[in-house]
Amino acid sequence: MTQPKRKKVVKKVTSQKNSTGVHSTKKRVRRRIKKPVLYGFLAIVVLIVALLTVPKTIQNNQLKELGYDKATITEIRNQKLTNLIIKNKYYSENLASSILNKSLNKDYIELYTVADECAEREFVLYDRLLDNGYTKEQVLSLFDDLSFYAITPLLVFDFQTDLAPYIADAIANKDNISATNFSLSNTYIEPYKTTYPTYNAGSYDMLVNKTYYLDSTYVPGSITDLSIQVASEGLQLESVAADALKQLCDAGRNMGLRLYASSAYRPYEHQQSLYDRYVARDGIEEADTFSARPGFSEHQTGLTVDMSAVGDGSGLSKFEETDEFVWLSQNCQEYGWILRYPSGKEQITGYTYEPWHYRYIGPDLAKKVVASGLTYDEYYLLYLAPWKNTDGETKKNAPVETAAPEETTPAAESPQPTATTE
Ligand code: DAL
Ligand code: ZN
Repeated sequence: MTQPKRKKVVKKVTSQKNSTGVHSTKKRVRRRIKKPVLYGFLAIVVLIVALLTVPKTIQNNQLKELGYDKATITEIRNQKLTNLIIKNKYYSENLASSILNKSLNKDYIELYTVADECAEREFVLYDRLLDNGYTKEQVLSLFDDLSFYAITPLLVFDFQTDLAPYIADAIANKDNISATNFSLSNTYIEPYKTTYPTYNAGSYDMLVNKTYYLDSTYVPGSITDLSIQVASEGLQLESVAADALKQLCDAGRNMGLRLYASSAYRPYEHQQSLYDRYVARDGIEEADTFSARPGFSEHQTGLTVDMSAVGDGSGLSKFEETDEFVWLSQNCQEYGWILRYPSGKEQITGYTYEPWHYRYIGPDLAKKVVASGLTYDEYYLLYLAPWKNTDGETKKNAPVETAAPEETTPAAESPQPTATTE
């Protein structure tokens, strides 16, 4: 039995004229793809595209809402910061521009959200404040409200459990705070209350001030007599500082200037007798503004001089008015010296302005200190103090393990007459 011939399914597609102008019917075979398969395939494609693009679009919108523009959002993606920024809602103009110009230091991203300036010095200050025992929130609030030069003195001052009064004072006095000036309405350090032995007695960068002291037995490693060409008779300095003083004075002399040290190394006992005389003459409070207590004077380091433009050392009080002072204050760092108690920074150094008092720390460091606009007290505690132990573990509230707070020896009170201040 023959099966009925199955008809071939054809579809009339079009009716076109051929070249002869006669209509022909074009037929083609219908494809056998089932509709559900086709739709399923399309759905998967759409889903994949959506999965790839929708979250990105949502994130872009979130970044836009935070304040970022299109170019910065592209950079945020390139630098893989998207999730971090969205999660924490980080935004500031400073942060945005740092991302855009590819200068962001990711480790300090929170700092960028509050500080107007973020560079190496701010990062170091941020770390040192944490080392001092301030919390991250406290440190960020400092950078939120205050400039670099308003914050650095906190490294020198006593630990402030409540920073709000300090911040308010610094905001009220912000016009009095810069690289050359620092003046607040209140004080934040009780001098000599908490004291430590200086970390590295004997090194050229040692810090000696009203907090960091030298033992009564400390004497410089090598002492040299100074020639009367550069100093009043009978003065001595540590030998490298003595050479540096000679170079300084020779350079001045080449400029037609006369420079002499009128005071140099002062042993502990010498400082004791000087300080006692001042106390007898002016009272402790006044004496403490211009004279160091024994153990706390830089003169005991053998690295310090009081400069004068006359050989007999009588010109201290007038020194500021001389050409010698002008040249010295501008050039001393080239020979390794710094003006240690500058005008405008009395609240940080703890001493009235002393245009004559110079400390030898070596030319490389001296140039850096001058360029920083910081007092040496601040500079040392910011960049040089060993805040971390050898394992890299941070010490809270105490710079080094051995530097436990201790009470300072009270000033002796045997009155002696005196006429000058040094
Ligand atoms: N005049 C400075 C502070 C001293 O006595 O060392
Ligand atoms: Zn001095």
